[in-house]
Amino acid sequence: EPIQGEGGIRVIPNEDLRRIRNLCDEKGILLVLDEVQTGVGRTGKLFAHELAGITPDIMAIAKALGGGFPVGACLATEDAARGMTAGTHGSTFGGNPLAMAVANAVMDLALDENFLPHVNMLGLKLRQKLAMLADRYPRIIEGVRGEGLMLGLKCRVTNTDLVAALREEKMLTVGAGDNVVRLLPPLVIEESHLDEAMEKLDAACGKLDATLDKDAKAAGAPS
Ligand SMILES: Cc1ncc(COP(=O)(O)O)c(C=O)c1O
Repeated sequence: EPIQGEGGIRVIPNEDLRRIRNLCDEKGILLVLDEVQTGVGRTGKLFAHELAGITPDIMAIAKALGGGFPVGACLATEDAARGMTAGTHGSTFGGNPLAMAVANAVMDLALDENFLPHVNMLGLKLRQKLAMLADRYPRIIEGVRGEGLMLGLKCRVTNTDLVAALREEKMLTVGAGDNVVRLLPPLVIEESHLDEAMEKLDAACGKLDATLDKDAKAAGAPS
């Protein structure tokens, strides 16, 4: 994964991805990227590997490809695909017309000239707002990481506590490795939704912050 999702929104440095690409080329190894979570606009590029200026030989994509509908795809360069020609691999629902029509419609939207600029602009705005939140609640949030609308809050409290506090505010997020809370809003999100999310984040962090004071008092520490 060019940016690890479940692993905790860990961005693989561009230089490292380029080194891996070069190493694969040198040794004649195929480079396979999992862009199931990062692909189709999530990071502000159509594919996250573009951020590093590399191209994989094989790539898996899914999630955003269906815009909610279950569909995935395995893409390969012509050279890498030599080992799997038409008819050599079957799948019960593979290539079914409904899923293909949905993915086709989603790709029309994702390739619209305004789509990726929208993701980038809102991703930047959300990141700025989250950085301000981290400044306001340094005991709750250590930092913000990610690209585009694939953002993570590295927590100082246990990440599942923040996920639970946000759920109380009626906002759904998901935890990830490295004590991170993931924010993966729909790519068509509008700025008013970001403001609504920030209100909920502020309320959840405020409540957790107050709990820390209460716990410290109970333990007899000076406040
Ligand atoms: C990066 C990545 N790869 C693969 C998968 C698994 O995809 P699927 O559930 O379509 O098998 C996920 C699911 O979250 C994922 O995040």
